Amino acid sequence: MEKIERTAVLGAGVIGASWTALFAAAGLDVDIYDPSPTGEADVKAYVERAWPTLEKLGLAKPGRQGAMRFHGSAAAAVCDAQFIQENVPERLDVKHDLFREIEPELSPQCIVSSSASGLMVSEMQTGWQDPSRFILGHPFNPPHLIPLVELLGNDRTAEGVLEVAEVFYESIGKVTIRVGREVPGHIANRLQAALWREAIHLVETGVGSVEDVDKAVWAGPGLRWAAMGPHMLFHLAAGPGGLGEFCNRYRPSFDRWWRDLGEPELTPELSAQLSAGVNEEANDATVADLAGNRDDLIVAMLKATSDKRRL
Ligand SMILES: NC(=O)c1ccc[n+]([C@@H]2O[C@H](COP(=O)([O-])OP(=O)(O)OC[C@H]3O[C@@H](n4cnc5c(N)ncnc54)[C@H](O)[C@@H]3O)[C@@H](O)[C@H]2O)c1
Repeated sequence: MEKIERTAVLGAGVIGASWTALFAAAGLDVDIYDPSPTGEADVKAYVERAWPTLEKLGLAKPGRQGAMRFHGSAAAAVCDAQFIQENVPERLDVKHDLFREIEPELSPQCIVSSSASGLMVSEMQTGWQDPSRFILGHPFNPPHLIPLVELLGNDRTAEGVLEVAEVFYESIGKVTIRVGREVPGHIANRLQAALWREAIHLVETGVGSVEDVDKAVWAGPGLRWAAMGPHMLFHLAAGPGGLGEFCNRYRPSFDRWWRDLGEPELTPELSAQLSAGVNEEANDATVADLAGNRDDLIVAMLKATSDKRRL
């Protein structure tokens, strides 16, 4: 496979604009289609805002920003592309219509990777005559900042396609993982959902306030989770016996905790309780302020750790 230099982004809202910034920063040309009348201006403004961060992270190639070209149709945007990131709204009919439109225009080696968070690859594949070069490449918001991409293909995926996508994503600074089989939410969103379920349960049952439950994560294990995953951390938590010894030692505790975890239902009342709690925690800061602070912290952590990561 020749080196990927020409990309396309289909759907340039929250996720597509961020992918565009990352691709352009890597010096890749990006052909873009989004039907919104303000799409082009929105994407340009987004890339301009993201650029200083991409420079700070060393992801922007000095002196070489890839060209961004905006098109009047998806078909026109894809004909030159070697790699396409699809980010249209999370609706199967919209994705299928798009795939039907672009399939006849694609060059034979082109890979189409979907950002879809909730849809299954197998249900998206039915929008293709030949889905062999269509995969899932699920990012985290915003993709130019959070490294993870979850990759998934299946028995209808051509040999070698996931490997090419992996090499491509890693060449632009992403950290990739393979999802072994289709499950709703892939891997990382299921982990988030599991933690949030118990966080809500703790608030609902009066064990902790919204603010204290949030603190228990960011000032506690969350800091470790940004360094290593839960298995590796527990491998380090029981001396030289590692994870095996940890399992022997703490199985009764975990069994007891697991039996006691809650299964809250996100009713309107519970949602109002959580909103009130988070508003108190925000202490009058706006959503934009808080998002800016989150991004500053993430950039600082990525910068501080990039030369120390050994795994
Ligand atoms: N927002 C997130 O946190 C997040 C994270 C990971 C993955 N995703 C996934 O990314 C995809 C896009 O989500 P988003 O949050 O960017 O949504 P969004 O609504 O912000 O953006 C979707 C964009 O697609 C455009 N669009 C509509 N119809 C189109 C068409 N036929 N062709 C091209 N563009 C079209 C819209 O104008 C809009 O700009 C979804 O599949 C979603 O599951 C979202």
